[in-house]
Amino acid sequence: MVDPRTFYGDLAGDYHLMFRDWWASAQHQGDVLGELLRRHGIHPPARVADCTCGIGTQALPLAAQGFRVAGSDLSAAAVARARTEARDRGIELALSVADVRALPPADRPFDAVVSCDNSLPHLLTDADLAAALRSIRGLLDPGGLFLASTRDYDAIVRDQVAGVMPAVHDVDGRRRIVGQAWQWSADHRTVEIHVFCLRREGPEWAAAVRSTTYRALLRDELTAALSTAGFADVRWLFPDESGYYQPVVVAQAR
Ligand SMILES: C[S@@+](CC[C@H](N)C(=O)[O-])C[C@H]1O[C@@H](n2cnc3c(N)ncnc32)[C@H](O)[C@@H]1O
Repeated sequence: MVDPRTFYGDLAGDYHLMFRDWWASAQHQGDVLGELLRRHGIHPPARVADCTCGIGTQALPLAAQGFRVAGSDLSAAAVARARTEARDRGIELALSVADVRALPPADRPFDAVVSCDNSLPHLLTDADLAAALRSIRGLLDPGGLFLASTRDYDAIVRDQVAGVMPAVHDVDGRRRIVGQAWQWSADHRTVEIHVFCLRREGPEWAAAVRSTTYRALLRDELTAALSTAGFADVRWLFPDESGYYQPVVVAQAR
């Protein structure tokens, strides 16, 4: 099993390769999330923490919209890449390395905390998930919003999904093929994912395969954990309602 810090440390330089056009996708995600925040009464220049920001796929476009964003992530390499991407685009935001299970206290509460693209399922045990949600709750005043997106594990477990079909990206005359193969535990509670990327390098192909483990976090489990951690009004929004490509959970700090 490869822990997320090692996995994302290794992936940070290539993370964009999983998208045809990472920044176009990031901007679209930012537009959808910005709209969701506004729907919940949170408008720029509100303070938003992205506690699993990675290379900044959501944090950067939200900051570009005028939200005051503080991004943090377990992976120092991902945070360093987010810093470079922000500087190259002239986007201002605070970035730091932090484990979501033990976020440092904020000097002022945030209006919202976000954690997108299936980050919480990296927390493999109930105790780790509870610690993360308590720590997130600690950044908010009562009424503050938490918004997270995860894969639809209810459907994935039901359908015994075995991976992500390869996508072929032809960019600047060069071909790359990216996909995932998944290996389930016997009880279908965790899944080891193997992310592969094949790149045409002249006449040769270069291949990279990187692996990590997720918990198949079901909606009822996350809803219950949010409630225990001090959140109320837990609601799930599906893509046809939210416009986001994964199910989104929103909850308010009690
Ligand atoms: C699928 S990536 C999504 C990153 C970013 N939200 C995006 O969409 O590009 C999951 C992220 O969760 C982070 N992560 C996993 N476990 C974490 C932890 N305990 N504390 C903070 N970040 C964590 C990883 O380092 C990784 O950047």
